Amino acid sequence: MRIDVLTLFPEMFGAAIGSSILGRAQAAGLLTIRVWNIRDFAFDKHRTVDDIPYGGGAGMVMKPDVVVACIEHVKTINPGKVVYLTPQGAVFNQTKAQSLAQEANLVLLCGHYEGIDQRIRDGWIDDEISIGDYVLTGGELPAMVVIDAVARLIPGVLGDETSAQEESFVNGLLEYPHYTRPAEFRGRGVPPVLLSGHHEQIRKWRLKEALRMTLARRPDLLEKRQLNAEEQQLLREILTEDCNEGR
Ligand code: ADE
Repeated sequence: MRIDVLTLFPEMFGAAIGSSILGRAQAAGLLTIRVWNIRDFAFDKHRTVDDIPYGGGAGMVMKPDVVVACIEHVKTINPGKVVYLTPQGAVFNQTKAQSLAQEANLVLLCGHYEGIDQRIRDGWIDDEISIGDYVLTGGELPAMVVIDAVARLIPGVLGDETSAQEESFVNGLLEYPHYTRPAEFRGRGVPPVLLSGHHEQIRKWRLKEALRMTLARRPDLLEKRQLNAEEQQLLREILTEDCNEGR
């Protein structure tokens, strides 16, 4: 997959895309990320990228001529969908990450100041994504969030192919708790079933704990999801246990 990022602050991306799993994915040729400085496409000697809003008001607006020059140049190299990061976009989630991970090419546009001229959105943007209901100073951190969530779904990027399959949200549940050695740590043990080597019982325990975690923290996810017979039985057990513990 190839991702091109358009930003006024390219230096923000260095460590986030160069280290760890994203760094390794690029070294392995599974992912190419190129960061472009929108300011390099300005037309005047001051390299102006923004201007005051028509109609007045606070803040500055990113100029359509400069931003579109940048988009059009990048599109000669990367023909992918152009995604604008904005709090007005559709809220990003795992399903969206999975659908973006199917694309061979993506172009991410990061806004700043009060935003970008509406004509850019009308003519050159294919999709708009928000990473949540809060306002950041720019689209750079959101772009990094999207890149990270999407890149790890590209086959081969995570060492262990199963880990992207089992984790939270993938099956509509939060993930079960994890434990590693030592078996006792400061007086706290590990659930005995995990030490038993009994694969079927471990599978069942993990499913039940995933249901327990989801019920406690994200009951909305359970409402959206059909439960099979085994899951319904485990949920009944959880509710009975909760009753007996007076919760
Ligand atoms: N730009 C500023 N805030 C944002 C958010 N929450 N999501 C995406 N882009 C943004």
